[in-house]
Amino acid sequence: MSTRIYINGTITPPEGAKISVFDRGFLYGDSVYEVMRSCGGQLVDLERHVTRLGRSAQALALPLPERDKILDAVAQTLKAADNVESYVRIVLTRGEGEVGLATDLAINPTLLVIAKPLVLPTAEMYNDGVKVRLVGVQRTSAKAVDPSVKSGNYLNNIMALAEARKSGDYEAIMCDRDGWVAEGSSSNLFIWQAGRLRTPSLSVGLLAGITRRRVLELATSRGLEVEEGRMRPQEIRDADEAFLTSSIRGILPISYVDGEVIAPPESCRGPSPGS
Ligand SMILES: Cc1ncc(COP(=O)(O)O)c(C=O)c1O
Repeated sequence: MSTRIYINGTITPPEGAKISVFDRGFLYGDSVYEVMRSCGGQLVDLERHVTRLGRSAQALALPLPERDKILDAVAQTLKAADNVESYVRIVLTRGEGEVGLATDLAINPTLLVIAKPLVLPTAEMYNDGVKVRLVGVQRTSAKAVDPSVKSGNYLNNIMALAEARKSGDYEAIMCDRDGWVAEGSSSNLFIWQAGRLRTPSLSVGLLAGITRRRVLELATSRGLEVEEGRMRPQEIRDADEAFLTSSIRGILPISYVDGEVIAPPESCRGPSPGS
């Protein structure tokens, strides 16, 4: 099991991986990124992740290397790390330049890939669910730091998670400024209510999660009723079931919202009817 880092064409162990302190990814979060996992050694939805990386880069007018160069860097790093299953992160920063905000101060983007052993939530978390909290920190507006762009500017999410962790909760759920539920700090949210699978629509302002899309595709293909729409916090509390999605964790059930149980673990359920 090992961690390997690709930086602009060179692959090294973590100790050898260095970037300039003048890199704008470091100074300003002026970067875009993707995170994915392998399954059976193959990267899950790699193509979709690279496409989203391209969309994020375009939104920030960040020059994108050729798609093949990115795919090659990922393949090389994954191979060098040589893990049974890997976590892979692609980072593209605007690169190194004179200190200053103007984007033309940097002209050579930094392409970085991290491959490390995959660490998943515990079996208990998958079985019993995790606790989430609706936090006061609002999801940034699409007109400010657009949540649909997967950029390295994550302070909004970091502060939301910090608020949730203060009360011992695993994930924070953020709402937009009008109080509509948006997403988790690093996950999308689904609820199951009255026989319908519901998730906040992209128009609320959230990341178009790749796992979110997969879940919607799967549900539709199985004939489930799905709705991408608007939901209030109370609707999560009233849901029959709820879960989080993300590329690393897949689907993670939610057991408590704001300290109230919504989907009791098996051990807490009463005897089933007729037993
Ligand atoms: C803010 C945010 N929302 C949702 C997600 C889930 O997206 P995906 O399924 O593409 O991993 C992430 C993943 O990191 C995220 O950071």
